[in-house]
Amino acid sequence: MSMRRAMILPVALAALALPAGMASAAADGAKVYQRCAACHLPTGKGVPGAFPPLQSDVRALAGSPAGRHYLALAVTRGLSGPLTVEGKTYRGMMPAQSGLDDEAVAAVLSHVTATIAGGGDAVKPFTAAEVKAARDSGAGLDAAAVARLQPKLTGK
Ligand code: HEC
Repeated sequence: MSMRRAMILPVALAALALPAGMASAAADGAKVYQRCAACHLPTGKGVPGAFPPLQSDVRALAGSPAGRHYLALAVTRGLSGPLTVEGKTYRGMMPAQSGLDDEAVAAVLSHVTATIAGGGDAVKPFTAAEVKAARDSGAGLDAAAVARLQPKLTGK
């Protein structure tokens, strides 16, 4: 089985397990997540030393307005470390995820925080308006500046 097929299958099965009605919004975020999974893995557990997990720290970040603003900028502007995630320091570079409109960024962040990071119903879904506001106010930030926002939010 190719790498790509191996990633798509679990995502497709997860979409099938959802109640009718919820399927389309959730499937969108899951579909966009396939590009994130290339680095962060389909489970979001990441690769130690290279790609950070999208789990407990991301779940915590999704609980505050400043954390949500950072998450939207991480996707739209990229990140250049050092960046500490779940106690481990990453000195990598995440390219800005181009080609995603505000709806697609909101959908993938909703999927990541609720499903991949396991926040479930406790996490407020991201809206396109929230993503647009982050894009507008963060337009002057480069990837290193976005990474510098994160320690203040997680207290590390
Ligand atoms: C090409 C590989 C790659 C892709 C694709 C990628 N990322 Fe990343 N991501 C990284 C790396 C590397 C870091 C750590 C950056 C650093 O070391 O400064 C990171 C960090 C993050 C963080 C910061 C976590 C924290 O706790 O501060 C978030 C959130 C994130 N990525 C979400 C995403 C989402 C959502 C997508 C898909 C839309 C995505 N990433 C796609 C490589 C990638």
